[in-house]
Amino acid sequence: MNLRSAQWYSGTDRNAYIHRAWMRRGAPRDAFERPQIAIANTASDLTPCNSHLDEVAESVRNGIYEAGGTPLELPVVSLGETQVRPTAMLWRNMAAMATEEMLRANPVDGVVLLGGCDKTIPALLMAAASVDLPATVVPGGPMLTGTFRGTPLGCGTDVWRLSEEVRAGSLSQEDFTQSESAMIRSRGHCNTMGTASTMALVAEALGMVLPGLAGTPAPDSRLLESAHSTGRLAVEMVAADRRPSTLLTRASFANAIVCLAAVGGSTNAVVHLLAIAGRLGVELTLDDFDQIGSEVPVLVDLLPAGRFLMEDFHRAGGLRAVLAEVRDLLDPTALTVTGEPLVGYLDDAPIWDPEVIRIRREPLVTHGGIAVLRGNLAPSGAVIKPAAASPHLLQHRGRAVVFDSVEDFHARIDDPDLEIDAGSVLVLRGCGPKGYPGMPEVANMPIPKKLLQQGVRDMVRVCDGRMSGTAYGTVVLHVTPEAAADGPLARVRTGDVISLDVAARRIDVEVPDGELASRHPDDICVAGFAAPRRGWTRLYVDHVQQADTGADLDFLVGSSGSGIGRESH
Ligand code: FES
Repeated sequence: MNLRSAQWYSGTDRNAYIHRAWMRRGAPRDAFERPQIAIANTASDLTPCNSHLDEVAESVRNGIYEAGGTPLELPVVSLGETQVRPTAMLWRNMAAMATEEMLRANPVDGVVLLGGCDKTIPALLMAAASVDLPATVVPGGPMLTGTFRGTPLGCGTDVWRLSEEVRAGSLSQEDFTQSESAMIRSRGHCNTMGTASTMALVAEALGMVLPGLAGTPAPDSRLLESAHSTGRLAVEMVAADRRPSTLLTRASFANAIVCLAAVGGSTNAVVHLLAIAGRLGVELTLDDFDQIGSEVPVLVDLLPAGRFLMEDFHRAGGLRAVLAEVRDLLDPTALTVTGEPLVGYLDDAPIWDPEVIRIRREPLVTHGGIAVLRGNLAPSGAVIKPAAASPHLLQHRGRAVVFDSVEDFHARIDDPDLEIDAGSVLVLRGCGPKGYPGMPEVANMPIPKKLLQQGVRDMVRVCDGRMSGTAYGTVVLHVTPEAAADGPLARVRTGDVISLDVAARRIDVEVPDGELASRHPDDICVAGFAAPRRGWTRLYVDHVQQADTGADLDFLVGSSGSGIGRESH
């Protein structure tokens, strides 16, 4: 086997001596002749969803040894969605860049990627795509279902719901605080079909996970069994030279889009998949999500679109059962990390609970996926998740109530004098990749208190930011170009009429184009755009691209391969 790591370890010169001697530390003499497999580990106490990954890494390590490889744990940048401020998305590209560089800089032949919380699997996949070493993912798995007073709690989704109940006066502050200790029942990531669950499943549909593994709950011992098998697999992948560039083809992205729609997954997957495709030079556009995904039925009845949680999903048969129902929509040529096609794993994949995973002819929603909207408000596109929206609002005209920043929104939304009714359209700008910066999950703006008290639970909302995968509502998000990139959103004024027509795929402001173009963006709006002077944030704002291509940095798009030495960069 021609190993990349031999460039460090083989030979008798002084450099080879140094590379071996410092790594020897009790290792057997032939340790340097075996495939060197990095375990890129995002375990961190500050990423609670990933804090159990050290145990998972131990199982991967055993599998690597068993198959004749040398395991090497590589701690990488970790992003805890609930802890990192102002938004974890600001560092997704940094985590990807740091991981890519460390993989390339070190004597490794392949890598097992351990992720879980929202941004960690996307960042690891972006890195693996750009360095193009044999790579496979072990998703850390969702937590078990917590309950409060006999009722299951869905992470994220029920936080939004309960906090709205407090604002509406239908739940006491004391009860709300008490539910806090019941929300997170066990190790693992959010148990709804949020971004973490979505990206784990999408990674398997892409072919980057041992089939059948994604969605296994974090405390389930089968996760460790699969982690062990993945360690063995990684050694085999090096021998077979099975790299991301050979697995992540347009066919596998098409399968990932079918998966995203069928599981009713998070809108964040759109940005992440576009970014991963960009690293590989795979032609994937925003419109592909609509064209490939919008006819796919939603088969999974999970929060936020439905009722159940990830533990139920796994019990009901998991991803393979879902994909088996939509097998005819999958591209049979797409391969997995095992070298076998994805569809080859769908022959014996029954649904054990048809309440949780619906059969094809009885879907939760007939047409799932992500609808891509265009119009004079979003010339380069915006997205909406119809399955999470209110059907009566999918076609709507209403008076815009515009907020120039998150701070402006919080200062005024509950003002009793705010001129707003249930038919108004809430507009929040300055929340795109450049503007905030980092494109935070603020698009699902809370409903004004006075309307909540009238029983209003959903309104049309329009934003250049993102929405948590655990959130719901009639939310038009990822509006591109964002306000801070001189998008038309910066020119909308309170009182303008905004029309949304999801069936026609339109989002427009009813202002003549000439007038819209001649308007100057509001001074307060412009003053709110980020203008960092130094550090990562400066680099990010100067180089981040728009949401319609994945919000990657312009100089990170593409791949540098795994070559070492100055010439490879
Ligand atoms: Fe980590 Fe939800 S906060 S997955």
